Amino acid sequence: MKISIHTIHELPFVKLYGTVIVADVLRATSSIVTMLASGAEKIIPVNHHGKAMQMRQQNPTYLLAGEENGLKAKGFDLGNSPVELDQAQIKGQTVVMSTTNGTKAIIGSVGASHLLIGSFLNLDAVIGKALQLGEDIAIVCSEKSGVMAYEDHLYAAVAASQINRRVCDLELGDSTRWAINALHGLLGNGAEISDQQVLHVLQNCSHGKHLIERGFAADLEFIARSNYFQIVPELRGGALVGA
Ligand code: MLT
Repeated sequence: MKISIHTIHELPFVKLYGTVIVADVLRATSSIVTMLASGAEKIIPVNHHGKAMQMRQQNPTYLLAGEENGLKAKGFDLGNSPVELDQAQIKGQTVVMSTTNGTKAIIGSVGASHLLIGSFLNLDAVIGKALQLGEDIAIVCSEKSGVMAYEDHLYAAVAASQINRRVCDLELGDSTRWAINALHGLLGNGAEISDQQVLHVLQNCSHGKHLIERGFAADLEFIARSNYFQIVPELRGGALVGA
């Protein structure tokens, strides 16, 4: 089995196959996990707001979720705050979701045999599912408008390091080897990351600081809780459903 880590910038040059885990920890993939855990029936990711509006015109019962510069997008029902989405009345609903980077990373990763949604909130559940599928694994890190996002690479390093511990003879791509070594440098060899350490990174990375300025500090605390949910969102027929 092989594991690699990519950014969305690399996708035009890389053929994704096997199992892909997409991560936009702040906040799209954490929000998706939260909405499915809160009982949403399915989430349809789209890569621009106009497409979401158009889908709602055709299906008036659909809810729209997503952000513009962190705040709820104009004309949408829901924003992209996991704290708010956790309280929203979305049980049994179909949600169309459009965000600045995260849903674009998902759409850009379509084509592999399995596409899973990763976050700290469902860390172990996704790792377990990916190992059960038994295919090569690629973790796709979302970026923030073309710039590397620390929080997604931290997630990728933590997930890859745990997979590396559980699989004998795992073949590591260069970016994965680098990420695991960097994580060991941060934590010390073999140590598990704590929620407090994840929170520290979220509060000090550039998008985390931006979200704090916009009044979303509570989202960071929510998102930093590893394994709070057991749900594994998977793309099936264009929609993310929970398993
Ligand atoms: C994105 O997709 O760019 C993010 O999830 C933005 C956000 O923090 O809402």
